[in-house]
Amino acid sequence: MKDKLNKIEEAALLAANEAVGEVELQQVRARYLGKKGEITAVMKGMGQLSPEERPLIGGLANEVKSRLEEAFALRQESLRQELMQQKLANERLDVTLPGRVQRAGFKHPITQVTEEVVGIFTALGFGVAEGPEIEKDFYNFEALNIPKDHPARDMQDTFYISEDVVLRTHTSPVQIRTMLDHEPPVRVVAPGTVYRRDSDITHSPMFHQIEGFLVDRKVTFGDLKGILTTFINEFFGENVAVRFRPSFFPFTEPSAEVDIQCVICGGSGCRVCSNSGWLEILGSGMIDPEVFKSVNYDPELYSGFAFGMGIERLAMLKYGVNDLRLFFENDMRFLKQF
Ligand code: DAH
Repeated sequence: MKDKLNKIEEAALLAANEAVGEVELQQVRARYLGKKGEITAVMKGMGQLSPEERPLIGGLANEVKSRLEEAFALRQESLRQELMQQKLANERLDVTLPGRVQRAGFKHPITQVTEEVVGIFTALGFGVAEGPEIEKDFYNFEALNIPKDHPARDMQDTFYISEDVVLRTHTSPVQIRTMLDHEPPVRVVAPGTVYRRDSDITHSPMFHQIEGFLVDRKVTFGDLKGILTTFINEFFGENVAVRFRPSFFPFTEPSAEVDIQCVICGGSGCRVCSNSGWLEILGSGMIDPEVFKSVNYDPELYSGFAFGMGIERLAMLKYGVNDLRLFFENDMRFLKQF
């Protein structure tokens, strides 16, 4: 009986030490100390012992029982500690790791270029004006001396909302609105969104222009050349060559398109400039007397110049972007570069 108890104790201690986790330990404990456990069985069988043996074995059984209770409690505590250590190791926080930076937003490249161009002209004394994107035929065409049968009015180019309401095809109508509101002298730039039925790598149905004009007494083509050359040198750099080339616009006479020396090849000829060495960047001219008549300015008293350019084109040339549609796809990999 004594031997048996000693063996049970040995086996129970071994099993307790080998138990992985508290659940397993509980099972081991039940196997030895539970109601149907081995120690309990020994105690239940004591009735068969002789009266001399009974207290001896009973005492021993109680000792074994309490030693085992103690051993199980110790083992349980160490299992708990192990679990805690494991948790601490797994959930460790590395306070030396750099934090995640909260990125600030930034302006779209088209906004950036618009602001840069506006900044150059405001430094030259120009004010800023804006007009509606949904525009009356009168402002978009008629008052700008674009007669009803002019090709620019073709359904191919213009989004019509109704017979005499369009999505403005250029920012030039802001000239008309501003002149109707203000007596000369005026000098204003007007940035804004414009729309045309056109889409390929250099055209988008929605794009941006900046218009500018100046009206006063005795304004000459020399003033136009001076202002635009100053602008180009500020925007593209001091050493970029500029050329004024005769052209035609219904609202200016004479008219000129302005080219800059190709910023890609430096003028030696490449794909971007079609081997000409020059890139067209804006349209301009002396405001046509017909336009002055439609805003009640006296063409005998006043003269002025006007110009208009595409913001996307300026941005493409300045940053070497070869597809205009990239500006509108909102791909962060592209936008982040500005
Ligand atoms: N409105 C013209 C266009 O959209 C650009 C332009 C040309 C504007 C000559 C002007 C100008 O003010 O004088 O293509």
